[in-house]
Amino acid sequence: MILSYLDGQYLPLDEARVSPMDRGFLFGDGAYEVIPVYSGHPFRLAEHLARLEKTLAELRLPNPHSVAEWAEIVARIVAGNEWEDQSVYLQVTRGADAVRKHAFPATIRPTVFLMSEKLATPTPEQIERGVAVVSAEDYRWLRCDLKTISLLANCLLRQKAVDAGCAETVLFRDGILTEGAASNILVVRGGVLLAPPKNRLMLPGITYDVILELAAQNAVPFEVRDIREDEVRAADELWMTSSTKEVLPVTTLDGKPVGDGRPGALARRMHALYQDFKNTVMRRG
Ligand code: PDD
Repeated sequence: MILSYLDGQYLPLDEARVSPMDRGFLFGDGAYEVIPVYSGHPFRLAEHLARLEKTLAELRLPNPHSVAEWAEIVARIVAGNEWEDQSVYLQVTRGADAVRKHAFPATIRPTVFLMSEKLATPTPEQIERGVAVVSAEDYRWLRCDLKTISLLANCLLRQKAVDAGCAETVLFRDGILTEGAASNILVVRGGVLLAPPKNRLMLPGITYDVILELAAQNAVPFEVRDIREDEVRAADELWMTSSTKEVLPVTTLDGKPVGDGRPGALARRMHALYQDFKNTVMRRG
């Protein structure tokens, strides 16, 4: 049994029901977060809740819970599910209305939903060999900094990768790297880690922040700047980062090897730093 939470009630996931009039269902009108949990400790919960708050504010959707209330709900979901490491999914929509209309309902009662899954981090083989990715033009909207549940473009773009037997689709907008369909993308050139600057065209990843903090703490040179498509295609290393993928080396882009086609030295080092950080800090809460 998977324990979920829906509008004040804790219940088995397969018993959770929402109205077909919910604006999340009709319009994709809502926000979400995915929070990794290590040995029962939600990682960077405050940061995930701050990003949720930002998304909700931009969607003009009142945050239904205080930080303390969210922490309590997340803690109960984590305690009620069996896995040592989990991925907690949290969603807030603008709720259900009596009629379907684009404009907001006069009275808003947000729908709050949480569930958990076993945290599925990359396999040892993926870490060892790296993964293949394809690329595509980033045709999403101009507020990719918001973590909204309107993910059709991301789904179509991720499916492009899956159809090609690949792990991710790397996105370029007007010749500049933005991110992946469901991850941030980092580049290594000449021993320097390059990260795209946070702006409205990419999600400000929590894992992205962790990687740059680890780089700063361990004297790994890095630059935050626009990265051109030709620089990505000539990169020594390419990484994808997210709460579930952690830091994963990309070894093939559009069928061509990245660098020498094997995970690079810096990727291996960063993966080790991340695992060490996970086991010494994240697991202890
Ligand atoms: N996705 N960019 C996009 C478009 C994402 O969907 C994600 C994460 C990230 C990485 O963010 P973070 O490091 O905070 O997980 C970047 C989650 C995991 C998902 O939708 O399942």
